[in-house]
Amino acid sequence: MTTPRTTVDQETADKFANSWNNVYNPSVYTREQVLDWISPWQPDDIRGQSVLELGSGSGALLHHLATMKPKLLQGVDLGSSVNTAQKLLGNSAKIIRGDITQHQKLLEQLGQQDRCYSIGVLHHLKQPRDGFESLLRLTKKGGHFHAWVYAHEGNALIRGLVDPLRKLVNHLPWWLNKYAVAWPLSWPFLAYSKICCLTQGLTGKHDLPLPLYRYMLWIGQRDFHFHHHVAFDQLVTPTTHYIRRSTIELWLNDDRVIPNSRYIEFRNGNSWKFGGQIKS
Ligand SMILES: C[S@@+](CC[C@H](N)C(=O)[O-])C[C@H]1O[C@@H](n2cnc3c(N)ncnc32)[C@H](O)[C@@H]1O
Repeated sequence: MTTPRTTVDQETADKFANSWNNVYNPSVYTREQVLDWISPWQPDDIRGQSVLELGSGSGALLHHLATMKPKLLQGVDLGSSVNTAQKLLGNSAKIIRGDITQHQKLLEQLGQQDRCYSIGVLHHLKQPRDGFESLLRLTKKGGHFHAWVYAHEGNALIRGLVDPLRKLVNHLPWWLNKYAVAWPLSWPFLAYSKICCLTQGLTGKHDLPLPLYRYMLWIGQRDFHFHHHVAFDQLVTPTTHYIRRSTIELWLNDDRVIPNSRYIEFRNGNSWKFGGQIKS
């Protein structure tokens, strides 16, 4: 296993490894969460396919994809969390250490796949477009690619309050950031998400003009540990971009993608899911 140390994203990956190698549960997501993240892909689309995740973290997503019976399941990450992921996944997936912005190297190591996806990663790259390029290059002709990123739209509060804090505290030792900053902030975060869920229960409304309401209805279904994990995940990284729909439209407007296969969906009022199919 080679360990590239020269890439511009190494610091980001090392800091995320502090999160993933110390997470309370490496398979941190529920099946419902994973189905939501990968949709419009359905479990039947995964069956019998070769599938690659770019930026696989602790293997939490691959853990669920393994139950969908792919022909081959692989993940790439630049951080030492590859060891945590391989331990979680055992023989069900192969995890390699590599830089997802270096598609040529990955092509030599892994070849092209039927399906290639990246969830929660492109917005942490110094050059998000390079990660998108890898999605296109590592997907076979006729194959499908899919991604999820933080949106610029709907995230004014996060960009205005959380992001300035992230720029300060990502420099702290990880344990100080996790337990002295993220932990106390996770309590009001949990209280607000639960209040939003209660409000939804009382009013029946999935759309109210409250800050991050739709996102809160999503995360409010989970416990304190998950809120703490997400808060730390926000604060641990040196690089975060909030990506505009217009940028994704530009990316997808690529000759290699079948025009009517392209999709962009606004998710939880503050993120984008998008993807398409590569021409044969
Ligand atoms: C927020 S985590 C997402 C992990 C996983 N996809 C998930 O949703 O649980 C971002 C991951 O991207 C990885 N990463 C960042 N830059 C990378 C790069 N250039 N090449 C490979 N992995 C990278 C980090 O190490 C980290 O594990």
